Amino acid sequence: MTRTVDLRSDTVTQPTAAMREAMATAPVGDDGYGEDPTVNALESRAAALLGKAAAVFVPSGVMANQMAMRVLTSPGDVVVAGANQHLVDFEMGASARNASIQFAPVDDSTGRLDLARVLEILDAEADHRAHVGAVAIENTHMPSGGTPWALDDLGALASAVDRPIHLDGARLFNAVVATGTSAAAYAAAATTVMVCLSKGLAAPVGSLLAGPEDLMRRARVERKRLGGAMRQAGVLAAAGLVALDTMVERLAEDHVRARRLADLVAATFPASGYDPASCRTNIVVFSHPDARALVGELAEHGVLAGTLAATRVRLVTHVGVDDDDLEHVAGVLSGLGPR
Ligand SMILES: Cc1ncc(COP(=O)(O)O)c(C=O)c1O
Repeated sequence: MTRTVDLRSDTVTQPTAAMREAMATAPVGDDGYGEDPTVNALESRAAALLGKAAAVFVPSGVMANQMAMRVLTSPGDVVVAGANQHLVDFEMGASARNASIQFAPVDDSTGRLDLARVLEILDAEADHRAHVGAVAIENTHMPSGGTPWALDDLGALASAVDRPIHLDGARLFNAVVATGTSAAAYAAAATTVMVCLSKGLAAPVGSLLAGPEDLMRRARVERKRLGGAMRQAGVLAAAGLVALDTMVERLAEDHVRARRLADLVAATFPASGYDPASCRTNIVVFSHPDARALVGELAEHGVLAGTLAATRVRLVTHVGVDDDDLEHVAGVLSGLGPR
């Protein structure tokens, strides 16, 4: 049988047997009344892990990001964020629609925000520019290849800006495992932080937004307005608890495999200029003149890849990719020959 190796995203991960067991047996109640013990346990666990007063369980990372925009900003505000961040570029204009804000996009090709440019945008308020309601960052930063923030850089940003920071931590635990910085230390630089359970941690559904008590009370109202309030959601939260308990440390394996992929990519596509040392977590992003054609060619050999743009290819490792899969990918790439 032909092998298929799915490197499109870590969102393709399947729930583990322990998650399915926990989902089947979870005590549940109506979360609309705050009576689901498993949701309550997950929210308390996440708040403690992130060092925040409260956390709210939501169906998706996009919803958590949108709730953050609605509680941190007022309509007409500017939000300073990396030009390629999910919040800016991959949410279908949701922040304009849901929070009536506009972005001031900043170069984030290194995975960090250019601090000087952020400060310029804040300074421009004095010259009749819109009020900056918040600054948003992404850690790990997906489009630059899963780059983790250095805590010092994040601390420098937090101490230089007098505005709330929202941290999109869809892959925060990848950053934690790659750098040894705790989730709470990263989150301390931000007012609100979002984490996803449904990516490398392999839960089937769910994200959390964490922050101060008053903001999270308001975030619950925004969740309701967005249609994201759930009822017996403990069946989902149960998988999330297993994800936090059992799936964080193993992300290190995904990082080792991504680095091997990075070396293969650098050897196969020297013209891309891709530096394999830039791969720090589970994502490889490289340039190719015809990314979609390459993805089609790889798929014919059972290697599923993704595109971020017409000239950008993305490969992502996760719990569903093992060493034999990588050997298959190595064989396919060596069949293509250096390009
Ligand atoms: C960095 C980042 N933020 C937010 C999201 C949104 O998460 P979800 O797909 O759960 O809405 C994603 C999804 O891939 C992401 O990569």
